[in-house]
Amino acid sequence: MPTHPAVVTVAPRAALEIMQLPTMAPANAEVRVRVEWTASTPLDLHQADGGLLVHHPQVLGDGVAGTVVEVGEGVERLAVGDKSLTISKSSKVFGFVWRAQKEKAHQVYTTAPENLFGKIPKGISPEAAVTLPNNFVTAYHTIVTDLQLPLPWPHPDDHQPEHANTPILIWGGSSSVGQYTLQVLKYFGYGNLLTTASEKHHDLLKSFGATRCFDYRNSNVPKLILDSIPDTKDGKAKVPFILDCIGSKDGSVAPLAQIAEKGTKVAILLPIIIRDATENGPAPEYTFDVQGSADWADGVEVVGVRTHFYADNSFHAEHLQPSIMPAMLGQGIVKPNRHRIIEGATMLERAQRALDALRRKEVSGERLVWRVAD
Ligand SMILES: NC(=O)c1ccc[n+]([C@@H]2O[C@H](COP(=O)([O-])OP(=O)(O)OC[C@H]3O[C@@H](n4cnc5c(N)ncnc54)[C@H](OP(=O)(O)O)[C@@H]3O)[C@@H](O)[C@H]2O)c1
Repeated sequence: MPTHPAVVTVAPRAALEIMQLPTMAPANAEVRVRVEWTASTPLDLHQADGGLLVHHPQVLGDGVAGTVVEVGEGVERLAVGDKSLTISKSSKVFGFVWRAQKEKAHQVYTTAPENLFGKIPKGISPEAAVTLPNNFVTAYHTIVTDLQLPLPWPHPDDHQPEHANTPILIWGGSSSVGQYTLQVLKYFGYGNLLTTASEKHHDLLKSFGATRCFDYRNSNVPKLILDSIPDTKDGKAKVPFILDCIGSKDGSVAPLAQIAEKGTKVAILLPIIIRDATENGPAPEYTFDVQGSADWADGVEVVGVRTHFYADNSFHAEHLQPSIMPAMLGQGIVKPNRHRIIEGATMLERAQRALDALRRKEVSGERLVWRVAD
């Protein structure tokens, strides 16, 4: 069987290594994609340093941009394209892929179902497109599934959501998930969006739909947020919907527990980080216990977000990556995250540098992207 190189973790907190993996031919409804660009994300760090949901050796990465090189039986939408870097008719794709080693992103070929890919719209570079898949899907899935705010697609012109004027708090608006969440909510008519981020990102986040921005480093921020909202009638929660895009026990969950009141729905991106990864200090620590992570007021509904189950919604399985994601990107409804290209002589060097930058917390309002196939 032919093989190709993949970047793998070999042990918790160990340096990444290259391993040759079998190049899998696509089965029914699957395609094989040559991975040209990927992004390194916090999950890669949770896996490499924290061993989160990992069996070593584990291929990292779940976002790809590349070229379709082989299609299985029953593939209808995608076709094999040329191997040059020029964009051809339907072969340049981007997608969120995660379920098995053969699908993961930090390897030269990924083999996965065609419904995990969309075509990269004209005029969008693959390195910009690859900032979307995992976190655009996370934003859309979380809004619909966990916050239960409808995003009817295609978006009817006369649609006015029930919660168009209800305060919705996006904690961590400058994170990749936060940026896509704001842009998606704005497009669907949600017009009272509060967010937290470093001050330098406030103007960008306002252009993405935030109506009010707060600096999360101000320890008084829960009070500032609550004071910015008029008192409600009947003692209803001031902020009925909260999305925690950070999932940090002290950095986001604790302040959110001061804001959430009876009737507030809080969705927290898992895992909750109890202790961050460090270069030489103790290992990171995580929990999935959203209820036990803070002293929530009675009547607050807290859920943990798990995007890996987004395809349980059959409409999302069929449409989210193949059509909604490319349409919203192509029409300029969502702008890709700002991206920083991580250079290096080899794929291994690029992967290691990106992971090191994440560990050193050198990421602010941007995605770290790097070339996979040389
Ligand atoms: N469970 C799931 O399904 C799922 C899916 C996707 C992501 N996630 C998790 O969600 C988290 C975020 O992912 P991401 O890729 O969006 O992250 P990211 O883009 O790498 O996040 C970086 C941003 O976080 C902001 N930040 C850091 N600490 C903060 C705090 N205490 N309050 C507010 N903002 C803070 C920084 O803001 P400033 O630059 O403004 O300072 C920075 O811009 C990760 O832990 C990831 O693993 C989970």
